[in-house]
Amino acid sequence: MMARRILITMDDLEAAVRLNAAFEAAGFATSMVSAQDDAKAAVLRDDPDLVLLTGGLHEPAAARLLGLVRDGRVATLGLLEPTESDPAAVTYRMGLTAAVPKPADAVETVALCRRLIERKQLQERTGILGDHPAIQEVLIKIEQMAPVSSTVLIEGESGTGKELVARAIHDLSPRRARPFIAINCAALPETLLESELFGHEKGSFTDAVERRLGRFEIADTGTILLDEVGEIPPATQVKLLRVLEEREFFRVGGVTPIKVDVRVVAATNRPLREAMATGDIRSDLYYRLNVLSIYLPPLRERRSDIPLLVRRFIHEFSKLHDRPFRGIEPAALQMLVDSPWPGNVRQLRNLVESMVVLAPTSEIRPEDIPREVREQGRERLLPVKVPGMAREVTGQELTYIVQSLLDLRLQVEDLRRRLEEHPQRVEVIEVPHEAPDAEVLVGGGAVPSGGAALRGAEGQVRPGRGREAVVYESGMSMAAVERATIEAALAETGGNRRKAAEMLGIGERTLYRKLKEYEAGGGSISSLT
Ligand SMILES: Nc1ncnc2c1ncn2[C@@H]1O[C@H](COP(=O)(O)OP(=O)(O)OP(=O)(O)O)[C@@H](O)[C@H]1O
Ligand SMILES: [Mg+2]
Repeated sequence: MMARRILITMDDLEAAVRLNAAFEAAGFATSMVSAQDDAKAAVLRDDPDLVLLTGGLHEPAAARLLGLVRDGRVATLGLLEPTESDPAAVTYRMGLTAAVPKPADAVETVALCRRLIERKQLQERTGILGDHPAIQEVLIKIEQMAPVSSTVLIEGESGTGKELVARAIHDLSPRRARPFIAINCAALPETLLESELFGHEKGSFTDAVERRLGRFEIADTGTILLDEVGEIPPATQVKLLRVLEEREFFRVGGVTPIKVDVRVVAATNRPLREAMATGDIRSDLYYRLNVLSIYLPPLRERRSDIPLLVRRFIHEFSKLHDRPFRGIEPAALQMLVDSPWPGNVRQLRNLVESMVVLAPTSEIRPEDIPREVREQGRERLLPVKVPGMAREVTGQELTYIVQSLLDLRLQVEDLRRRLEEHPQRVEVIEVPHEAPDAEVLVGGGAVPSGGAALRGAEGQVRPGRGREAVVYESGMSMAAVERATIEAALAETGGNRRKAAEMLGIGERTLYRKLKEYEAGGGSISSLT
């Protein structure tokens, strides 16, 4: 195996020399640099596994050096002066993986660095990021639990990484080359769930035209993830219990027992003990599932990991979407750190993706953060609700919704770009009141029969057979078009804001705010005066 590389800064020469000798003796490849000058070149040249800062943690040079390795791939260790009053704060502010007070014992420091590097490599391999002690504990557990075949129960709110952890356990286990099969137990009605899990024989029920293998059979010699295990109906629980106890089951409609060698990993959003207390989960099943357990804390309980996650996601998505991106302004990052994140890492990740795609500059600024996230601050947030849905939205749905919204925003962006590229060919036309929808014609399409397309200078409002027309002219900004539209609507409703807002399909408050903006920007709306 290649020797691990350590970069040691020489701020504290005594410590640097002493530790350098210890690292070399332990088989590491080391280089000593001065954080002031050649550190950047050294990072690029040596691609270190760990950067050890021996001092000067409060100097700008240290921050610059850390900035080079800050997307979290490289472990960083800082040596703190014994007088340092708040070591945890320094670690967090600098984004260090760990920090120890001076004088640092050489043997212990080498052992610590070895652990830090191994942990980082494990994180790269599993994709489970975070320096927070709770995440480090999760990683240790994964390493311990992966080699055995015992059942693991993973608990944590939606979007905290349960599936990621389940895959990591499989990937680090001797079963890694075998199947990993996931099934969401909440998504299917009872009969379908049973046939999904255990398979069915031909003719066992109306739709069973063929024999079908269940997930347990497909996962044989591998791992099965029973997602949302707390939602399994009682009758199925009994069958599942039997599989867990005997590693044996029957296909639906089958008479021969099927034996499988499957490692079971179960996941749940809702504490399973609670489900047991309410009688939704049998206690014998609970104890069978809860042999080994991993708890993933919500993101708001490990806010110190947010900067690292944000930077990593920015890096990932700017590469994916091929957008050169510098990063995020400190004030914007602070907003993200303070937000409550009811959807946890998934929500953060989706948000970063949308900002990387939509931010107009190459850096995320406070104003690029959606208002909902900005304003939530540290307030308690209600669970996400979709109108018309009685229950809470679960993680997968949330991802779907967020992705759809993102798609929609991308399409709007695209449309906007195309409008900007070919302005002269675009007309915004107000159609008569009887027609249901206004139309946007792209590429010089036909004017709807009853409609009127009146051309006026600078999108002015022209009276036309009892209605108003807004016409786009080359060089007009979106804001000007919007303003002209609002003016037209107000003219038509005789200055009645409520009706105008209704016609435009926007809230009265939005209309009011826009009018205020126009006033502030000079000039007033003619129809109001
Ligand atoms: N610690 C982490 N580091 C990096 N990415 C993470 C981490 N935790 C979660 N993610 C990412 O967040 C998203 C959601 O994770 P995952 O699907 O594992 O959550 P979950 O707990 O299974 O959620 P649900 O209960 O809604 O199914 C994924 O894109 C995952 O890669
Ligand atoms: Mg999941």
